[in-house]
Amino acid sequence: MTSSLERSEIAGLSIRDLARKYGTPTYVYDSKKMAAQMDSLRPFDFIRYAQKANSSLAVVDLMRRKGALVDAVSAGEIRRAIAAGYRPGGDPPSIVYTADIFDSEALELVVANNIHVNCGSPDMIDQYGERVQGGSITLRINPGFGHGHSQKTNTGGEQSKHGIWFQDLGDSLNRAIRQNLTVTGIHVHIGSGTDYQHLAEVCGAVESFALESGPQVLSISAGGGLPVAYQEGDAEIDIAEYYNLWNATRNRLVEEFSHPVSLEIEPGRYLVAEAGYLIAEIRAIKRMGKNLYYLIDAGFNNLARPILYGAYHPMSVASSDGRTLGDLADVVVGGPLCESGDIFTQEEGGFVRSEPLPIASVGDYVVIECAGAYGFVMGSNYNSRGYAAEVLVQDHKSYLIRTRQPTEDLFKAENIPEVN
Ligand code: LLP
Repeated sequence: MTSSLERSEIAGLSIRDLARKYGTPTYVYDSKKMAAQMDSLRPFDFIRYAQKANSSLAVVDLMRRKGALVDAVSAGEIRRAIAAGYRPGGDPPSIVYTADIFDSEALELVVANNIHVNCGSPDMIDQYGERVQGGSITLRINPGFGHGHSQKTNTGGEQSKHGIWFQDLGDSLNRAIRQNLTVTGIHVHIGSGTDYQHLAEVCGAVESFALESGPQVLSISAGGGLPVAYQEGDAEIDIAEYYNLWNATRNRLVEEFSHPVSLEIEPGRYLVAEAGYLIAEIRAIKRMGKNLYYLIDAGFNNLARPILYGAYHPMSVASSDGRTLGDLADVVVGGPLCESGDIFTQEEGGFVRSEPLPIASVGDYVVIECAGAYGFVMGSNYNSRGYAAEVLVQDHKSYLIRTRQPTEDLFKAENIPEVN
């Protein structure tokens, strides 16, 4: 290795070998890193994995084996949790459905499987109460403020559709009473990639909502949103300090209610982002005026965060033949899609920027790092491209956890009507 921009291994395995064995583009996940992230959150009573960040069965299964509970935001995510070995029910509930609406499939599933519901709208309380008599629910409250790494990931305040508006808490508690439901928990999630100071503001909000709800409250959830240092200089969260704030909040409620109150945290990104790498092959290198482009075989159909949020992902290059790469060049990295926004090095607003990377050749690999969260899951079949393969590395062994989607599968569900 001549620089950190040149990388030959992931979790102890050769990138070249991984690329040859599984093809490209392929997501590779380091299970040890995921487990270490889980371990760092052990002070919290319960860690609930927000599987929206990476819902591949093998990843959800790994979280389950490491002791995480799981959050589901759709019928599909409930089915995934069950397929990965979670058994519905339990105290605290192993699977929680957190959403702002029930679609009909989700409502049927939660009722049939006794899945705990975290209601993000007053209507959900009524719709659930009409089906389940005497049950308990938790409420996701929008505290009137929010933050995020981008306006698109801010999930609090009046610009956000998420949660029950804090001023409607009283009305929602009354709805629950009318529906014979008990509100046993309060949950707030203000955004993703939020800084520590803003996350800390949530403690005060949760405390006042819990007090307003009364001693029926047995649990509070800090939500997710823990930041990840994607870029050098990004602040890392001090988990001990963060926990202390929440624990103090919980202790005040314990004193007020004179019974135990459990403390949950619900991260997605923090558990999986840094464990994930997207390996792609450089298929063309060309100069366009002053810009040098590496065009790789992964596009925003595989990793949408740069085009959606101008998100920064660290990148490195691995040679295809074991040679050491030398000097750096400023490079724009783009994908194969027939769309000019298909650029991994861009800022919010679509402005192309360049990134210093080793001078490489066609056939070498670009590794997009910190790609384990909101990577594969936000992929698409745009330009009729199949989904990437996914590989999990554990104890220096690689396991194919998702086969590359064959392109013939793309039109399997389609019909051409017999019309003239
Ligand atoms: N809990 C709730 C209720 C949420 O809405 C979310 C994320 C999480 C937990 C997990 O947040 P995390 O710990 O992963 O930040 N696609 C965007 C992120 C959208 C997150 C939506 N909700 C991105 O790529 O940055």
